Amino acid sequence: LFFDPAIIATSVPALFAGWLVSLGVVVISFPLAIPLGLLLSFLRMAKHRLPRAIGATYINIVRGTPLFLQLYIAYFGLPLMGVQLDPFAMGAIVLIMNSSAYLAEIFRAGIQSISQGQFEAARSLGMNGMQTMFFVIIPQTVRRVIPTMTSEFILMYKDTSLLAAVGVTELMMYAKTITAATGNVTPYIVAAGFYLIVTIPLTKLINTMETRMANGRRK
Ligand code: ARG
Repeated sequence: LFFDPAIIATSVPALFAGWLVSLGVVVISFPLAIPLGLLLSFLRMAKHRLPRAIGATYINIVRGTPLFLQLYIAYFGLPLMGVQLDPFAMGAIVLIMNSSAYLAEIFRAGIQSISQGQFEAARSLGMNGMQTMFFVIIPQTVRRVIPTMTSEFILMYKDTSLLAAVGVTELMMYAKTITAATGNVTPYIVAAGFYLIVTIPLTKLINTMETRMANGRRK
C-alpha cells in the first residue's frame, strides 16, 4: 500500500522529535546568519577594491554551488583536516555560511534601494559613513527587507532536510528510517505536514506584510 493511515499515528511521535531538531537547527542558525550577511554586504559595497573582491568572491562561490555539495565538502573535508564536529553543529555552520551569502545580497539590494538623498541629508547633518549607515540607512532598510528575509528563513528551514544526508537526526532522517522499516511512504507524507505547519503560516505572514507595505506606499 502506498499510503497507510494506520502508520500516521505510529510515526508521529518520532517525526515530531525530528521536527524539533529541524526547527532547532533553523532557529539557531538563522539569527547567526544575519550579522554575517550584513558584514558580507558591507564588504561587497566597500569603497576599496580588496574588501569588495573578498565579499563578491565569497558570495559568488557560495551562491554558485549547491548547498548539498557544500555540506559534503564540510562532512568529508573537516575530519580530514582533523576537525571533529558534531553533525548538528557542522550542519548549522554550513547553513549559516550558505544563507549569509543570500542575505548579503538581500541587504545590499535593500540598502541600495534607499534614495541617494538620504545619504546626502545625513552627510549634511555632519554624520560620517558609519553613523549614516546605522542611524539613517539601516533603520529604513529593515522594513523593506523583512519579507525577503522571511522567505530566506523558509528556505533555510526546508534546506535543513539536506542535513539528513550528513548524519543529522532531523525530520527527513526519521521519515527515511521509518519508511525503510514500513515499506510505505506514509511517514514522508506526515513529514510534509510537519514542514507545512511552519511554511504556510510564514508564507501568509509575508503576503500580509507585502500588502501592508504596498498600501502604505500608495497613501
Ligand atoms: N537548494 C539550494 C541549493 O542547492 C538552496 C539554496 C538556498 N537558497 C537561498 N536563497 N537561500 O543551493
